[in-house]
Amino acid sequence: MPLAPPVLEVDAVGYANLARDVRSLLGFDLGQYKAPQVWRRVNAFASVRGMRDVPTLLAACRTDAALKAAFRDMITINVSEFFRNAEAFETLRATFLADMVRNQPMTRVWSAGCSLGYEAWSLAMLVREQSSSAPIRILATDLDETILGQARASRYNETQMLGVSQARRARFFRKEGDLWEVRPEVKALVTFRRHDLLTDPSDGGYDLIACRNVVIYFTEEAKARLYQRFAGALRPGGILFLGATEAISNARAVGLEPVTPSFYRRPA
Ligand SMILES: C[S@@+](CC[C@H](N)C(=O)[O-])C[C@H]1O[C@@H](n2cnc3c(N)ncnc32)[C@H](O)[C@@H]1O
Repeated sequence: MPLAPPVLEVDAVGYANLARDVRSLLGFDLGQYKAPQVWRRVNAFASVRGMRDVPTLLAACRTDAALKAAFRDMITINVSEFFRNAEAFETLRATFLADMVRNQPMTRVWSAGCSLGYEAWSLAMLVREQSSSAPIRILATDLDETILGQARASRYNETQMLGVSQARRARFFRKEGDLWEVRPEVKALVTFRRHDLLTDPSDGGYDLIACRNVVIYFTEEAKARLYQRFAGALRPGGILFLGATEAISNARAVGLEPVTPSFYRRPA
């Protein structure tokens, strides 16, 4: 029988030092992330790079920009793709989008935790397929400035483009050498901004908030507070769109009602 991997206890002092250094190095607060998961991943990251402990890793991050970037990417986990869980985007299109676009003088969408921008562009394409002229504004936010720079550049290679059909490539992208770049008229729909979901205030009146695969390492308390803030940021009847493996256990307590898997509504 295979041996279970050793359980790595969180070293409270080590974790406090890690949180302090992450705040000064990367500018965000680990206090509302699940400590065991973060501690395990940081230790694994140090170990595969041959570093004996977390302080050694943090010291190296101070002088090695590439290592620091890899460390930040590991903590924030920015894995993403176009139309991630395509069936959920199909539910969004078939169930919610027509009313959302038809009934608003301006449809407002927030992609919260947008990573490289795939989610925001996917939403923009879906809305444009629904209506070629409906006024729409998409705000796409993330904690990570570096990744936002890449999202704004909006250029993707063939591997990154796997989820985008030929028809969508032709309509919404132009080919620049080996890369596909989002067309200016689609770019104009999306604004990228740095925003920490755990600490920064947000505005309101959204028809749709997509926050998918972002909160996995947040504590239960931090998640509940965030969902409550999302409920307040949606207009009455507005929709919260979560990742395929995410659910809100007591949605009504945070001011939302479940509609169908991955989708919650602020009651009208
Ligand atoms: C796994 S990606 C998800 C991207 C996209 N929403 C999707 O479902 O494919 C998680 C993103 O959340 C961002 N993130 C993590 N913690 C955050 C926070 N406190 N505030 C804002 N963004 C955060 C990360 O930087 C990362 O880009």
